[in-house]
Amino acid sequence: MTATDLPDLPRHVGIIMDGNGRWAQLRDQPRLSGHKAGAETVRDITRASRELGIEALTLYAFSSQNWARPVDEVAGLMELLRDFVIDERAEILDNGIRLEALGEIERLPALVREPLEELRTASAGNTKMVLTLALSYGGRESITRAARAAAREIVAGTLRVEDLDADKLGSYLPTAKLPALDLLIRTSGEQRISNFMLWEVAYAELMFVDVLWPEFRRAHLYECLKAYGTRERRFGLTSAQLADSSDV
Ligand code: IPE
Ligand code: IPE
Ligand code: MG
Repeated sequence: MTATDLPDLPRHVGIIMDGNGRWAQLRDQPRLSGHKAGAETVRDITRASRELGIEALTLYAFSSQNWARPVDEVAGLMELLRDFVIDERAEILDNGIRLEALGEIERLPALVREPLEELRTASAGNTKMVLTLALSYGGRESITRAARAAAREIVAGTLRVEDLDADKLGSYLPTAKLPALDLLIRTSGEQRISNFMLWEVAYAELMFVDVLWPEFRRAHLYECLKAYGTRERRFGLTSAQLADSSDV
């Protein structure tokens, strides 16, 4: 599959990578082996997205709420994240990918934070694709931080209350530099957002795929992208209005 087969390629794809634990449980394996298998899917889907020419790929890797999981699982996930950042360094740099992170990065242990920050800096000039890992991330937490930043400016007298509209508040979000989220995919069959990009999802197309993340392959991504191309995104307008504007 190439980008020419997909004329309406989304600029920004987000993925809620769910189902690692169930994948392992089905095999009588510890949950962590599911996360390991899931890390392989991350590598493959990142590569496929880069090859297709998707501009931004945002992966929900660890939520603010996932800190409450068993200590061993959290520790194992942190080690896998570190391994991912270290092992993928060369490939990310060689392929012009910029690595970014969303979330409360300061809460991550140094073993993840340090190689992550190093690769963020090293890849900062890359322009082919931005790969964003949502780590220790929550959509509500992210909006709360933005609201706090705006409140600070109001208190300091550098922002007027009446100038705080949706665009302005959105500009404080860490996703403000990314293209608008076009497509959100969740694997594992669950149909919920689980605190991912609550603000950004406003006009994203949602797709819930009944495949566990370790079994999600390029072919599944292509199916999602094809289905995305068939959807009419109206942004509140009517179909007739959209047809008129495409005539001009
Ligand atoms: C997603 O898989 C990965 C993380 C949340 C870190 P899960 O671990 O949630 O897998 P299930 O949902 O229990 O199958
Ligand atoms: C969402 O999955 C978080 C990530 C994929 C990182 P969860 O498995 O944590 O979400 P719930 O608990 O099913 O809502
Ligand atoms: Mg889950």
